[in-house]
Amino acid sequence: MIHVEELTKVYQMGESEVRALDGASFTIQNGEMVAIMGPSGSGKSTLMSIIGCLDVPSSGRYTLDDVSVENMDETRLADVRGRKIGFVFQQFNLLARTSALENVKLPLTYAGISGRQRDERAMKALERVGLGQRTHHAPNELSGGQQQRVAIARAIVNEPAILLADEPTGALDSKTGVEIMDLFQSLHRDTGQTVILVTHDSYVARHTERIIKLSDGRIISDEKNPNPIKAGAPRMEA
Ligand SMILES: Nc1ncnc2c1ncn2[C@@H]1O[C@H](COP(=O)(O)OP(=O)(O)OP(=O)(O)O)[C@@H](O)[C@H]1O
Ligand SMILES: [Mg+2]
Repeated sequence: MIHVEELTKVYQMGESEVRALDGASFTIQNGEMVAIMGPSGSGKSTLMSIIGCLDVPSSGRYTLDDVSVENMDETRLADVRGRKIGFVFQQFNLLARTSALENVKLPLTYAGISGRQRDERAMKALERVGLGQRTHHAPNELSGGQQQRVAIARAIVNEPAILLADEPTGALDSKTGVEIMDLFQSLHRDTGQTVILVTHDSYVARHTERIIKLSDGRIISDEKNPNPIKAGAPRMEA
């Protein structure tokens, strides 16, 4: 469970300060699929990096599975991150000139998994995202959607409980974006992973079960979406 309370993040920029987060509170249960929306600069990525244990808040509380993480040092944060969190970004962030398989194996190397197991688990993750036939392709030999699938395979290869995605469809055309949402939905359904994704696109957001909206670092709405769009189904205009 993710529980944040009165989270703030203040960046000092010379004389002035930027309140990127300004008192955000919510709870996300294990296994939820949530979208975070809000205009540019509203604090979405800041929130994701705190939830993902990449950064700590300036004040407020963050409890992850009953452990307080708001005051952890970098070593302990990295440990929690490595065990619990998988990240997906808008620009895929894959290593260039490095095969899909090697990209997906990286987190396993950091986790100290042995060679043979690394190959097996990375292969399995690539098969899971539908790329079992593309394991030796480098990112520049793959389409955008395929590159994002590699990035998702890399994010799930350690079987994290929480998958965080910051604008995962932002660099893709709408059809490919829907395919990626289909993949997130099926991961969420099959593995019970908590999925939290940031999007500007309300159509993308409506593929999730809950939509949290941010404005100026504050939560301005937090609503259940009782009928998430099924990505595999034909598009219905509202
Ligand atoms: N490292 C930093 N140093 C100083 N200010 C920062 C830093 N990171 C973010 N900010 C500021 O904090 C605010 C929130 O930024 P954030 O990146 O979280 O917004 P966002 O909602 O993700 O925007 P976008 O949709 O453009 O990605 C912005 O005003 C931004 O300029
Ligand atoms: Mg952002």
